[in-house]
Amino acid sequence: MAIQTQLLKAREVAQASEAQLHNEVHKFKAHFSVSPQLAVVLVGHDPASQVYVRRKHETCHKLGIRSVKIELHPDITEKELLHHIQRLNADPDIDGILVQMPLPSHLDAKKIIEGIDPLKDVDGLTTSNLGALVAGNAKAVSCTPKGVISLLKFYDIQLKGLNCAVVGRSLIVGKPMALLLQQEDATVTMCHSATRNLKGILQQMDLVVIAAGKPMLFGKEFFREGAVVVDVGIHRIDNGQICGDLKATEMNGHLLAYTPVPGGVGPMTIISLMENVVKLAFNRRSNLK
Ligand code: GUN
Repeated sequence: MAIQTQLLKAREVAQASEAQLHNEVHKFKAHFSVSPQLAVVLVGHDPASQVYVRRKHETCHKLGIRSVKIELHPDITEKELLHHIQRLNADPDIDGILVQMPLPSHLDAKKIIEGIDPLKDVDGLTTSNLGALVAGNAKAVSCTPKGVISLLKFYDIQLKGLNCAVVGRSLIVGKPMALLLQQEDATVTMCHSATRNLKGILQQMDLVVIAAGKPMLFGKEFFREGAVVVDVGIHRIDNGQICGDLKATEMNGHLLAYTPVPGGVGPMTIISLMENVVKLAFNRRSNLK
């Protein structure tokens, strides 16, 4: 009998989280007499990054969070960019700093991220916050992996004891994703570009998170029947359509559930960002008092 495949959509989760965030922002304002404030640094004119940054601002606005955009020339030097970040670090009215990735190739992303005050690091990407994540006490966790866990929990997917694979080992998605799944008592295998027999490994898994960055690379032959797949990829292909790393048209009737692109992981990333801004704002301003 064909499996009834469920789409893990973000819309309902986002609505519930937004309602909760609205209350949190309200409490924050009552307590500190201002709203939390996010600063987003955008270097260059990458069209996808411009869209993402605009969405972040729109969501901030909707929730009553202040946001400021710092748009910088693509030829900016590392020293100049670090100078902007230091200014934001020192500004007591800025609660969160996000440097939109990817950066132009002449800039060393790791060095730039390390310039962010860990107390304002809403992406959870500084060494200090990544270390805290390993230790299990992170103040802010990278937004996409955090959003994936929230989405799976919303749909009541029990992670304890599951055999999970994460495809991709980036600092922003793969590595924190594997740690968060482990914290939920899943057994986690990390796969990457040098993994041998990727298909054979993925076919054993109950849950696969794909962050390979390759449009429609993964067909149904990679997954066992009844598996759950989270697709972190987002690509605009030649015909203008948006797709993920999955060949989504092959998944109906084969998987138990998967995340659509768009409408799956993407909106969850933004919600996690908002949660991180509010959380860091509460932490920092409470300690300043
Ligand atoms: N580019 C794509 N996703 C992200 C994200 O979550 N944070 C940052 N800083 N850049 C991104």
